[in-house]
Amino acid sequence: MASMDGWDPEQYRRFANERAQPFHDLLALVEPAKFLRAVDLGCGTGELTALAADRLEIEEILGIDHSAAMLGAASLHATPSVQFSHGDISAWSSNHEHDLILAAASLQWVPDHGEVLRRWTGALAPGGQIAVQVPANADSPTHRVASRLAAAEPYLSAFGIAGPPVDPVETNVLRPEQYAQLLYDLGFERQHVRMTVYPHVLPSSRDAFEWVKGTTLTRFKTRLSEELFHRFLVDYEHQLLDELGRHEPHFFPFRRILIWARLSQA
Ligand SMILES: C[S@@+](CC[C@H](N)C(=O)[O-])C[C@H]1O[C@@H](n2cnc3c(N)ncnc32)[C@H](O)[C@@H]1O
Repeated sequence: MASMDGWDPEQYRRFANERAQPFHDLLALVEPAKFLRAVDLGCGTGELTALAADRLEIEEILGIDHSAAMLGAASLHATPSVQFSHGDISAWSSNHEHDLILAAASLQWVPDHGEVLRRWTGALAPGGQIAVQVPANADSPTHRVASRLAAAEPYLSAFGIAGPPVDPVETNVLRPEQYAQLLYDLGFERQHVRMTVYPHVLPSSRDAFEWVKGTTLTRFKTRLSEELFHRFLVDYEHQLLDELGRHEPHFFPFRRILIWARLSQA
């Protein structure tokens, strides 16, 4: 089901295997510990929240998202120890009550990562861990073509005085060393920050279009009429394929930043 907030769980799930890879890598960074209470911020369709609970033997995990459609899909994974709730991850915090904070492919949607990470850190108990993954591919054709098209007519006028929605990855995501500095300044005892290129091989170049339709293009869906969004997609696909070339299969390198840190026990 597509939704008013632009997210469509079915479209998002089309590349579930590719999207799960960075999540597995993120979980591999988490150190074994007794996880009484954890949170998955921007949990999306919830499969990965449930997987984390199982893999890390978490007693209680809450997946938080602001998309009604994504939460609807996530509810299928709810159990007594895996729960889901509506909320804004940029405002979320708790009073040192959490042992683990996960945020996979969600932090890029909100601005001011220094402030948000400070708030999230305040939610960690002593010895608590944070594991975050963000895309870092704002300079890739999928993102460049979207921004270029949105700045051209007839779309530009349709966005009105506010202008086209900015690319959150370009605007919000910091460099790896900036995240490392933030974690140090926030008092984490240990950390691991790395950039990784995921070498996805998609059946065809057209699948790159299908991929972003379920993610970065959602920001245009909520700002254009249905008819104009449809036209946007047609133009976007055309321009993207001109840029990528038409290949079967298509090599789709995807740069991401993995961030892990742990507070001291004291
Ligand atoms: C790309 S999906 C990632 C889902 C899941 N974590 C995964 O790895 O597959 C990003 C999710 O973040 C959610 N999101 C974006 N901004 C948010 C906000 N400010 N508050 C809550 N959820 C947000 C979206 O609704 C979407 O479900």
